[in-house]
Amino acid sequence: MKDEEGGRMKTPHILVVDDELSMRELLEFMLEREGYEVSCAVNGMNAISMIKATSFDLLLCDIRLGDITGLEVLKVAKKENPHTVVIMISAYSSAETAVEAMNEGAYDYVPKPFDNNELKQTIAKALELRTIAQEKRLLDDELKKHLHFNRIVGNSPKMHHVYEMIRQVCKTTTNVLITGESGTGKELVARAIHEKSDRRDQPFVSINCGSIPETLLESEFFGHKKGAFTGADQNKKGLFEMANKGTVFLDEIGEISSSMQVKLLKAVQDKAFIPVGGSESISVDVRFVSATNRKLENEVIEGRFREDLFYRLNVIEIRLPPLRERKEDLRILAQHFLEKYSSEMGKRMTKISSYAIDLLNKYDFPGNIRELENLIERSVALSNTNILLPDNLSISIHKRTWMEEEKERGVDIDAMAQGVSLDDILEGIERAYIQKALDLSKGNQKMTARLLDINTRSLRYRLKKLNL
Ligand SMILES: Nc1ncnc2c1ncn2[C@@H]1O[C@H](COP(=O)(O)OP(=O)(O)OP(=O)(O)O)[C@@H](O)[C@H]1O
Ligand SMILES: [Mg+2]
Repeated sequence: MKDEEGGRMKTPHILVVDDELSMRELLEFMLEREGYEVSCAVNGMNAISMIKATSFDLLLCDIRLGDITGLEVLKVAKKENPHTVVIMISAYSSAETAVEAMNEGAYDYVPKPFDNNELKQTIAKALELRTIAQEKRLLDDELKKHLHFNRIVGNSPKMHHVYEMIRQVCKTTTNVLITGESGTGKELVARAIHEKSDRRDQPFVSINCGSIPETLLESEFFGHKKGAFTGADQNKKGLFEMANKGTVFLDEIGEISSSMQVKLLKAVQDKAFIPVGGSESISVDVRFVSATNRKLENEVIEGRFREDLFYRLNVIEIRLPPLRERKEDLRILAQHFLEKYSSEMGKRMTKISSYAIDLLNKYDFPGNIRELENLIERSVALSNTNILLPDNLSISIHKRTWMEEEKERGVDIDAMAQGVSLDDILEGIERAYIQKALDLSKGNQKMTARLLDINTRSLRYRLKKLNL
């Protein structure tokens, strides 16, 4: 467990509040032996002044204290620090006081005499839950802090660089080219640029250049006049005109044909165009943001993309890093999607097990954030616990992770010249996969078999054969 500074958790500090000396001594002795730091208060007022002076992780508080009641101490403790865990103890337990204490935020109510071991367990459990809740709060804070770029989640230095770029370009009308692999968030960034600019109340018009047939693209861009071509039975405004005063997002710009490139260049240069079948030019005030997952420089070198258009659109380039180059964002991204889909599906999933995060960390996500998002969505749909466990993650990710490792290890086919034993090679591979599956599922045979897509009987047979 880590604390706020990322170091080891400090020893939990417990305050024992009881007016009876023997009880204080018993609890102090018992809890110090458990490794906690323990302080004692002899009555209610004493407890309150200590609570105001120091922050305690946990309070063990008797109900009858001689002066004020334990319930009043509870109220003050919760007011001073809502994260303090309070456990009430009393020999005079009535259901009513218990309910009242719980309503005031007590974690539990323990009747006297109590079983020492049970009390120790209750305390350990309460502190553990508190750290889980604390961890989640930290994550929530982090999420909140870094959601300020219009739903863009990420706290890695590379993403901070992206945010800085967005901040700089959103004040200008400079044309921006966003590059990055598929699923890295190019469209999200394009929208953020628009929403952070003075144009935010004007239209954001997105055109996917790759999905519109060449013959239609010109009319989509610039509009057409009635009778311009078969089927043009009335005048139609183009998307550039609709985006007037706003932003045009040219998605997959690398896909447009060379004849369209000429027309687009002219429109971008002049901020004016002539609708298909028209004669008069229409001027517009638009900012162009384009995106591509191709290496446009290479397309230019190879003559597939006009150099002049490239420089027009690419006044400033924002490069989005692939997810594998900013693994430190994986956790908050996964948590973000978990909460999104959990609430969409009416589930109550709040946390991802650290082990599941470890698994995700081993995978290199060729489909980037979109792939992670889909994976979490599927996992949420399939799970019925409130914590996302490794078993809920799609099996394909486990298999693909190992394949990557296997590839890295490299099977030595060149050794063939000296002759090889195919059985030995296959047995080696079998052993490596089974061992890995066993590790991943912490020795659980059922899960191991599932990961390997064999039945448990076959697994047991192989374990015996391989002496595993
Ligand atoms: N940093 C991020 N924070 C939160 N969600 C993100 C982030 N990056 C991407 N996404 C989500 O991942 C999905 C893919 O993002 P987007 O469509 O912007 O990617 P893209 O780079 O345009 O991909 P493509 O090249 O395939 O069009 C979207 O659902 C988007 O909301
Ligand atoms: Mg896109």
